[in-house]
Amino acid sequence: MDDTTTPEGVPPAEPIGDSRRDRTAVVVAVANQKGGVGKSTTAINLGAALAFMGERVLVIDSDPQANATSGLGIDHGAVEASSYDVIVGDTPLEDAIEPTSVKNLFVVPSSIDLAGAEIELVSRMSREQQLLQALQGAVDAFDTVLIDCPPSLGLITINALTAANEVLIPIQCEYYALEGVSQLVRNIELVRRNLNPQLKVEGVVLTMYDRRTTLAADVAVQVREHFGDRAYRVVIPRSIRLAEAPSFGEPIEAFDPMSRGAIAYRALANEFRRRHGSA
Ligand SMILES: Nc1ncnc2c1ncn2[C@@H]1O[C@H](COP(=O)(O)OP(=O)(O)OP(=O)(O)O)[C@@H](O)[C@H]1O
Ligand SMILES: [Mg+2]
Repeated sequence: MDDTTTPEGVPPAEPIGDSRRDRTAVVVAVANQKGGVGKSTTAINLGAALAFMGERVLVIDSDPQANATSGLGIDHGAVEASSYDVIVGDTPLEDAIEPTSVKNLFVVPSSIDLAGAEIELVSRMSREQQLLQALQGAVDAFDTVLIDCPPSLGLITINALTAANEVLIPIQCEYYALEGVSQLVRNIELVRRNLNPQLKVEGVVLTMYDRRTTLAADVAVQVREHFGDRAYRVVIPRSIRLAEAPSFGEPIEAFDPMSRGAIAYRALANEFRRRHGSA
């Protein structure tokens, strides 16, 4: 028997071409309770860029708005199982995973039912650990799992933070950009202390950066002062193509791969991979 066969003689499912193949998935919560800062855009396009680089990526849409779901071309009204069924019901994660038009990129779609989940979970035993339990064992087939969080610090976001290894915080370059981020960081600290000791803020990414304004540059300086090395060097520019892509149900890498937004998310994916020792 040679090294490429298992004891049962079954060849391994995946060639180990990627240094992270033999490790379990990195689970990243993309979170900021502030609305409209680029969470879904980052989950979709970082996920797609990583998938184009050969990683197996799962995006879990945990927002009832279902922006990551529709942005990846999935009709959330037509899916059989959603993140609601996984978090509130007892549907196994595997049963809710849908392929996308991008090879290696999968999504657990959201549905509007999730809007009631916060209330349904309140009286549940280990209500903060529903997603963690659903992920256990089921995400090993992936290199990276990105959880697109809703714009709140409610139970769904707490579930995402409890299930994650790390948090990626998109920050929009605008006035009061850092307002609210300290509250998020305090909540992350609470989850770390009480529910998930390994949780860390892995990174902060500046989004909708407009290099023509001094405001954007000022925000970037503030964020770098506050977060140091955790701030990604790559910044995501404001780009109309990034805003257009979701209405075509495509990540920017497929919609307009030469656009500034696509180039930026590729660079972000490269930096992400370097930081995780996989590039
Ligand atoms: N870099 C960008 N350039 C231009 N438009 C962008 C960019 N990033 C995001 N947008 C647009 O800004 C809006 C908000 O972005 P997005 O939905 O990603 O934010 P969000 O944080 O997920 O919002 P919510 O809190 O509502 O879930 C969307 O219309 C999106 O298309
Ligand atoms: Mg969103």
